[in-house]
Amino acid sequence: MTPTPADRAYELVNGFRASQLVRGAVELRIPDLLSGGAMSADQLSAATRIDAGRLRRLMRGLTALGVFIEHDDGRFTNTEVGELFREGVPGSQRPVAMMLIPESYRGWDHFMDTLRSGVTGHSLAHGGTLWETIARDPDYAARFNQAMASFSEGAVQFVATSGHFRDGALIVDVGGGKGALVAGILRSNPSLRGIVCDLAAGLAETPQYLAGLDVADRCSVVEADFFKSVPSGGDVYLLKQIIHDWDDQHAATILSVCRRAMSAGARIMIVERVLPSRVTDDPSHLNPVMTDLQMMVQLGGRERTLEEYKHLLAGASLSFTNSVPGAGWGLIEGVAL
Ligand SMILES: C[S@@+](CC[C@H](N)C(=O)[O-])C[C@H]1O[C@@H](n2cnc3c(N)ncnc32)[C@H](O)[C@@H]1O
Repeated sequence: MTPTPADRAYELVNGFRASQLVRGAVELRIPDLLSGGAMSADQLSAATRIDAGRLRRLMRGLTALGVFIEHDDGRFTNTEVGELFREGVPGSQRPVAMMLIPESYRGWDHFMDTLRSGVTGHSLAHGGTLWETIARDPDYAARFNQAMASFSEGAVQFVATSGHFRDGALIVDVGGGKGALVAGILRSNPSLRGIVCDLAAGLAETPQYLAGLDVADRCSVVEADFFKSVPSGGDVYLLKQIIHDWDDQHAATILSVCRRAMSAGARIMIVERVLPSRVTDDPSHLNPVMTDLQMMVQLGGRERTLEEYKHLLAGASLSFTNSVPGAGWGLIEGVAL
């Protein structure tokens, strides 16, 4: 049945319920449990130690939302959507759910305050900036770093095939977190070398992650504050989901610090969700617009249009050379003159 405008309006008002149902299923690992075959509510109850009656209601809610299927015998299986909440499957949304729903959800509870004052919902909910929360909470840091790595793993092929990486190049992944993007690019070309630089909390699992992908011998890890310095001598400075975390003034400082570390001819590659110059209800516009709002609530940052990125590059004495739109991600390249 096609949803009516009233159905759609009701669905929008109730979006918070769907988020919490997904959180419940993901925390209890129900999509992973169902990967072994159909299970009844009683079996799931035994595996999760949640009362069978309440668990069945959770399962029915997510069945109505298209995450599970309830079969005639009362057993449940994952839909294709449900499969994406399993751990470790390509494109898994589990790390994103584990990062977003608990902490961001509380930040979004302050959305009206953010709208009125510009103060981030994150600081109102948690006290201090997101980076301060991450620095003092290793569990949240690990969930955040894992979610970022999963986004980056999904962007590797796009960046590796769209960017210019000459043989033997040294790639500096600025604010690289686990290093998922540079590691993936290094795996695509054995002559490339890399450096991941980030704050201590961002680098907590990086050495093990790089070792697990067999690139630790070609990729070093450097603790650095990108408002002060980044490693010099790189051929490519990669900034994925860095600039969008910050307002224009901070973004300009990060680009200038990178420019200072770059020799003439070195390239900068910004990987972000690029905002269209005019937003419509085209499905491809939803993600950049929503992450723009997410940046407003969480960090005081913003997504930008291509023109806005060109302006930022020019302000840091970097000459715009190329942009590649992608499915989800966009690549903006500049060069140090
Ligand atoms: C949104 S995450 C992106 C991580 C990674 N580039 C990716 O896309 O997978 C932003 C990163 O910036 C790092 N960061 C925040 N403030 C920083 C600073 N002052 N200096 C260096 N890194 C910083 C965080 O630790 C985090 O790893």
